[in-house]
Amino acid sequence: MLETNPLRAGIVARSSPDPCAVVIFGATGDLTGRKLLPALYNLAHEGQLPGGFAIVGFGRRAKSHDEFRAELRRDVEQHARFLPMNPAVWDGLAQGLYYQQGDYTNAADFTALGKLLAQIDRERGTDGNRLFYMATPPGQFPQIVQQLGTAGLANSAAQRVIVEKPFGRSLDTARELNRTITGVFDERQVLRIDHYLGKETVQNILVLRFANEIFEHLWNEKYVDHVQITVAETLGVEGRGGYYDQAGALRDMVQNHMMQLLALIAMEPPTSLEAEVIRDEKVKLLRAVRPIPADHVAQYTVRGQYAAGSLAGKSVAGYRQEKDVAPDSRTDTFVALKLYIDNWRWSGVPFFLRHGKRLPKRVAEIAVQFKAPPAVLFGADLAAPLQTNVLVIRIQPDEGISIRMNAKVPGTILNIQPVKMDFRYGGSFGARSPDAYERLLYDALCGDSTLFIRGDEAERSWVIMDGVLQGWQTAPAPFPYEAGTWGPAEADAFIERDGRQWRRP
Ligand code: BG6
Repeated sequence: MLETNPLRAGIVARSSPDPCAVVIFGATGDLTGRKLLPALYNLAHEGQLPGGFAIVGFGRRAKSHDEFRAELRRDVEQHARFLPMNPAVWDGLAQGLYYQQGDYTNAADFTALGKLLAQIDRERGTDGNRLFYMATPPGQFPQIVQQLGTAGLANSAAQRVIVEKPFGRSLDTARELNRTITGVFDERQVLRIDHYLGKETVQNILVLRFANEIFEHLWNEKYVDHVQITVAETLGVEGRGGYYDQAGALRDMVQNHMMQLLALIAMEPPTSLEAEVIRDEKVKLLRAVRPIPADHVAQYTVRGQYAAGSLAGKSVAGYRQEKDVAPDSRTDTFVALKLYIDNWRWSGVPFFLRHGKRLPKRVAEIAVQFKAPPAVLFGADLAAPLQTNVLVIRIQPDEGISIRMNAKVPGTILNIQPVKMDFRYGGSFGARSPDAYERLLYDALCGDSTLFIRGDEAERSWVIMDGVLQGWQTAPAPFPYEAGTWGPAEADAFIERDGRQWRRP
């Protein structure tokens, strides 16, 4: 049975959100329809949205408020968590849905937006509270931010901006973007989103580490042999070839989501749960990650690109045959990295990161591999070494935590076998976890930036990626791997050189 501790609940309880208008730039895009509106609907369904709540879609195409509402209704009917849709909940949300036609280059359209927001303040009591959501292609972020500044829509703490990824494509471009945004908004008004931080299992990393006494003492170079962070996808580029071919796996997944996983699994205990305290610790950890020099990429990285193959019995095309991908593309769809963290806790412990598209299985996990016990008693037989302890945090899809340990097989002879102790979210907590965007939008409405990326954090992560990207420019092309396999054979050789092996989750 679950126990609730009212004192702890009180400590982490937050105020509920004040009335607010969320303005979505890129209102007719994929993200709005598939993620943002369904997440807002789910929050409404759970009664978590404030009474005075409004959504304004800002887009180029001409359409009426009602046409916009009808479009979004179709999206919610398809993608919401609570289906079939509850018409009463939808009607409540739809009453506060507005559409503003506009062009990002036209200052007059932002003046018109300001007028609509003032009208919404009067009609719905939103009182100047605004959340501007950049759901457009990244090239348009700077222009929109500038226009918001010029229209006087960025000048109070109640006006905040959510910036989607990708946050730059290198250290220089990330710095430039930070300069542009913080030239208009104060850093405290900026929420850089990384949807991995909205995942329940990712938030649980800090709880696992710091709400339990038994793990943290072992969480260091004395006991940990190495750590593997894997994010494997079966998907290919799914019609996003234009974007992906310019980005690649390292920029798309490693710089942001996987570096966040690394920071949370390896950082020092923060002294409080305040946003700045936690983010300071993450930055401190990222600063300790040893950058990979451009002339050492062959030693610390492997990149691959999927060729045609088959997944779940179906043939799939190779990356270079995907729409909007150059036929001679050198873009990485698979990447393996070895990183070291130069601090006292992790000195000499390798962190292996692996991500790829078109791998055999969708799985994201962090595996902390412990060292072998002393080679006496049960570990003394060198011909039959014991399997070592592994703690696995399964981020998705089968959310949970498991520990591998050795046990005696019942019987008259001594036979030792590894067994698994397993915690499953579904089994212990039942209900399906909220979508990451629900949590992040709710936090943004509450003004809580803990689960958002600070400007210096984004830049620090780019420092680590920049050397790799530079080195790859002159390195041989990515190794091909057949779709439906665990990446190029070179990735296996890469970790085996260190005397370790990839897990097969
Ligand atoms: C996005 C990437 O940030 O994350 C996609 O751009 C990737 O390429 C996606 O597929 C993975 O997210 P999730 O939540 O499905 O693991």
